[in-house]
Amino acid sequence: MVRIDEATKQKIIDAADIVDVVSDYVRLKRRGSGYIGLCPFHNERTPSFSVSKSKGMCKCFSCGKGGGPVSFIMEIEQVNFPDALKILAKKYGIEIEERELTPEEKKAASERESILALNEYALQQFERNLTKTQEGVNIGLAYFRERGINDAMIKRFRLGYALEDRDSFYKKAISAGYNPEFLEKTGLCIKNERDEWRDRFRERVIFPIFSLSGKVIAFGGRTLRTDKSLAKYVNSPESSVYKKNRELYGIYQAKVAISKKDKCILVEGYMDVISMHQAGIENVVASSGTSLTTGQINLIHRFTENITVIYDSDPAGIKASLRGIDMLLADGMKVKVLLLPEGEDPDSFSQSHSASEVEQYIAENESDFVQFKTRVLLDGTETDPIARSRAITDIVNTIAVIPDMILRTIYIGECARTLGINETQLTLQVNKQMAQRIEKDSKEKEREKRLRNTGLKSEETADPSTEPDNTPSSRTTSAPQTQENPLEPYEKEILRYAIKYGAMPLGNLLDDDGNLSPMNVIDYIRHEMANDAIEFISPHYRLTFQTAVETINDNWTTDFDAFNEGLRKKLSRIRQEGENDIRVTAKDMAEIKRKETELNQKIEETSKNLTAEFSEMYLAKILTSADADIVRQIATDLVNTKYTLSKIHTKYSKVETERDRLADLVPMAIFNLKGAIIRQRILSIQKQIRDLYASPQLDIDAIKPLLTEQKELEDMKKELARYLGERTIVPRT
Ligand code: UTP
Ligand code: MN
Repeated sequence: MVRIDEATKQKIIDAADIVDVVSDYVRLKRRGSGYIGLCPFHNERTPSFSVSKSKGMCKCFSCGKGGGPVSFIMEIEQVNFPDALKILAKKYGIEIEERELTPEEKKAASERESILALNEYALQQFERNLTKTQEGVNIGLAYFRERGINDAMIKRFRLGYALEDRDSFYKKAISAGYNPEFLEKTGLCIKNERDEWRDRFRERVIFPIFSLSGKVIAFGGRTLRTDKSLAKYVNSPESSVYKKNRELYGIYQAKVAISKKDKCILVEGYMDVISMHQAGIENVVASSGTSLTTGQINLIHRFTENITVIYDSDPAGIKASLRGIDMLLADGMKVKVLLLPEGEDPDSFSQSHSASEVEQYIAENESDFVQFKTRVLLDGTETDPIARSRAITDIVNTIAVIPDMILRTIYIGECARTLGINETQLTLQVNKQMAQRIEKDSKEKEREKRLRNTGLKSEETADPSTEPDNTPSSRTTSAPQTQENPLEPYEKEILRYAIKYGAMPLGNLLDDDGNLSPMNVIDYIRHEMANDAIEFISPHYRLTFQTAVETINDNWTTDFDAFNEGLRKKLSRIRQEGENDIRVTAKDMAEIKRKETELNQKIEETSKNLTAEFSEMYLAKILTSADADIVRQIATDLVNTKYTLSKIHTKYSKVETERDRLADLVPMAIFNLKGAIIRQRILSIQKQIRDLYASPQLDIDAIKPLLTEQKELEDMKKELARYLGERTIVPRT
């Protein structure tokens, strides 16, 4: 495990040229000020993938994917952040400097490495057994043949065989120099009560389990005996490289197809995945017989939000697994289900049909999960009102977990029709259920917070970048929010200015003593928000803003100095060349004068433009390559947000850009947020007042202070309306 140090990381990011990087995967053509090509993330015939060299960004205007060089590599190679950096380092011949690891990190890293090395060794032994030993060929290979698995699949999934002998692997590994400590930690060998070493996998065919990046992290072994006393499958125990609930069988082999088809098919078992692949359907993974975990859902969600779950059509099994699917909905996935013909599983079905038949069957028979669940639950309740009302409650609960409001509304409409009940009625029930859940969630959070506060830590907001599961979930910007934040659009607008223009000078601030002090966009925002004790409510935005502020604080001065140093050199080169040119070409004094003036103008203009460009792109460039996944995604998203205000043509017919109007727009954005906060507070007070009026005994004493507060807020609102006019922003000349 290599830890890339900060300086190297910066070197890589600086070296990576977006046009150059993308060109390794996409044929680009020049178009206007940028480049354009066919999007590598979805199938298309007319190009909508555009690359901007100056912004260092790429984006598909059709599917929306893209980002800086690192994000692009992450997406196209389906790797994590450090691995993307490694790929870029290799491309640009940058040597990766390892950061000095702490003793704990060293121990963990070397343990991981040892375990992975041993697993890889074991895998090679199992593969060898299958084809190079008499026993393996006769038993293991014969079995796969009988199940209809071809050599290509055996290779692709690296299938193997564990010999019958009780400790043959143990002996081999020891004589090859492997440490017994790791034999035990990988679970490949077990020491029994009599202190004898035994192989865990014996006389079984082996299904290696790969991590997303293709490392062998565990094994499943299937017995070939029909003896009921033997477990059908034996699996590796958890270890520091294998956390069962974060892995999916087949994800390594399926990830490219999942991403390309923008859809994942979920089946139960090892054989299902392999047979489907053999049939040519490669976007398939298995949950390995257990119900899905959030870690596994996150893993899928990184590649797509569309999932089709295949069930075999045993009714008891269907009802039992319905529940697990709600988790997929809650994660914001679009879920479909598919029933196979009776008596078939994906393995048998894909073995007995051609690829196109399977595809066609899926296309024709997959159905929307919520509709499916409604039908299943309703089935047989026609004459039983209690069962029916229980079914409705269950469906309401399912709809209530869906984070997307529009989707929820659509489902409510559909289900109301299927259930034959009133839509408003159903909406009310769903809302009630959501409110209950939100309340429960926030109570839980409160409790956690209290627990934290009684401990050593002071009040601390959850840092979304350090979620226990370090796998990035790619759609976090659209991730479900437990509670709708009405201020979100206002916060987003402010954050967008902070990231797109944070380092740009905004103007001068006139303080109470009448002094002018220069300030940039991010300073201004921070100042304004701090003045009124406003914080971003969205924790993700808060983190992104903090990162932006820290970046400016820590690096801006140095980087700007370095830029100016380079600029100075560049300008003096331009001057030198210009003066040489004048000396050679000018014919008289007057022409020299004229040309000198032109040259000075050109230099001044270049200086101004380059400085503006550097400041404008400064934060965006850094944040769209930030370590924290959420920061990187939000930054990428915001930088790509189109300028929505209509462009203004001045009398000089020059198009005014957003950049030219920051001194108006940024204060306006802050003003809007403050206004929204006040409106929000007024609404809540009004509700409290209404509730009090509605209560059986009218408690005037309780209402009075609320009325006063309402009045105060209304005053603030009015005052705020004058806010912009009286602002002491002095636009820069
Ligand atoms: P199945 O029993 O359906 O196995 O269990 P299968 O993969 O279809 O195997 P064949 O077709 O009988 O050869 C589904 C999955 O549940 C897990 C395995 O991952 C299996 O692929 N499982 C099942 C276990 O881990 N242990 C078991 O004892 C049984
Ligand atoms: Mn099976």
